Amino acid sequence: MSEKDRGQWGSKVGFILAASGSAIGLGNIVFFSANAYKFGGGAFYLPYFIALFVIGMPVMILEFGLGHSTRRAFPESLHEAAGKAGEFVGWWALMNASFITLYYITILGWVVGMFVGSFGHLWAEAVATPKFAMDSLPNPHGYFFSMLSSWKPVVYVALVWFLNGILVRRGVATIEAAVKVFVPLMWIFMIVLIIRGLTLPHGTQGLWLLFTPNFEVMKDPAVWQGAFSQIFFTLSLGFGVMTAYASYLPKNSDSTNNAILTSLMNCGFEYIAGLAVFSILFAFAMVPQASTLAMMFFIVPKGIGQLPGGEPWVIAFGLMFFLLLLLAGLSSSVSLVEGLASSLIDKFRVSRAKALTVFCVFGFVGSAVFTLPQVVNPGLENDGTMGLTLLDLTDHWAFSYGLLIVGLLECLLLGWAFGVSRLWRHINATSRWHLGAWYDALIKFVIPALILFVLVWAVRAEFRDGLYGLSYADNFTSGFRWMAQSPLFILGFWLLVTVGLAAGFTLKGSYTSKRGKA
Ligand code: PHE
Repeated sequence: MSEKDRGQWGSKVGFILAASGSAIGLGNIVFFSANAYKFGGGAFYLPYFIALFVIGMPVMILEFGLGHSTRRAFPESLHEAAGKAGEFVGWWALMNASFITLYYITILGWVVGMFVGSFGHLWAEAVATPKFAMDSLPNPHGYFFSMLSSWKPVVYVALVWFLNGILVRRGVATIEAAVKVFVPLMWIFMIVLIIRGLTLPHGTQGLWLLFTPNFEVMKDPAVWQGAFSQIFFTLSLGFGVMTAYASYLPKNSDSTNNAILTSLMNCGFEYIAGLAVFSILFAFAMVPQASTLAMMFFIVPKGIGQLPGGEPWVIAFGLMFFLLLLLAGLSSSVSLVEGLASSLIDKFRVSRAKALTVFCVFGFVGSAVFTLPQVVNPGLENDGTMGLTLLDLTDHWAFSYGLLIVGLLECLLLGWAFGVSRLWRHINATSRWHLGAWYDALIKFVIPALILFVLVWAVRAEFRDGLYGLSYADNFTSGFRWMAQSPLFILGFWLLVTVGLAAGFTLKGSYTSKRGKA
């Protein structure tokens, strides 16, 4: 396929907007605040910033450089760099990313539901119960939970897949047009929210929690695992997405500069999103003791529902908040869809329309699984429904382990098998800021060692403690117990499907036209 058929970003600004549109997503607003809170606010910041500079930026340079030098999507890029083993890692990363895409889009479906509710009845309830007792959380009531235990999200999920299909149908050209509107709007909405949050009475109190460091907690490797996975997720690393996006760049692009700009824009946004969420929560003395999703869909709306100024203001802020989530999520999900679509198109030479149709239909079915409304465990935090429980479990493996494994493998492959110095020489040729031997050391030793440490620790803790406070081993004797053994069942399913499909895609067909490097 010629360069022209593959498409190219219209401008550097277009690329930066698209890359930061991919990076800025639900992760910045939903997952970041929840993670920061979970690990005690201030305990999270230092590991997070260390992860950003030591792992995030260097790996983003690596993924950009790879896409830019090979001008191919992730599996083929890695194939050129490290042969079949490389290609397998590329496909595995994409298969893991596909699992994440499925539930990412389900969550976006819920956002659509909240947006619809924001026109009215969502707030009626919040205003009617002004001093909401957070102790009674989480329990299955309220707008969000009644939506979850209905079939409505299936419709919302279908709508989100349809929108993704439309936005990706002409490749980077439509994506670029969309992000030029979405990304600036997201920043404007976020700035309005933070100003509103900080000017509320007690609004600044939440910041103390967010910024008071806790060095004790930082000794716990769980915080580091949380910070590392958050950095991969929020910067869209380990998904093959950044490589696919960089493959559409003109030949003289500056990969280092692009990576630094994208990371800083993303983490800047994440930072102010954290401030906005925490200030709104604390202004209403609400302690966000809940899980990630409950916090964003249940507690934050309670806070918005109590904003001063009466119903019109509440509705306006509520609509803006959920529209912000929707735009942020869509500009991310299109990159996930594009990452996979471009890989399939590059290898199997299928038409874009065909690849997208198949992908969207399968995707819809997969995302719909996470909307199953049956209540399987009313006792478990907010995860009462089947769909939410499956989502939580899939996220546990694909997010907390999958991304780190991809990160580890890509550093090892490119560092050792390909030789990272070849890559940075290519990058340096068109970059203002030059990489050197220290970059070799980071990619070959420091990053793999850090990730490996966290992974080994996590696996040990996992099999000692289990999930949901139930150890895996203890419960095997008493037959299958849903909450105790389902994590292992999902682990098996996830491994089987991702490894099986990745092997299939690697072995089937071959890359015919070997082209020279850029
Ligand atoms: N970075 C996105 C977020 O923070 C998630 C994402 C990952 C999107 C990979 C696209 C690709 O929400």
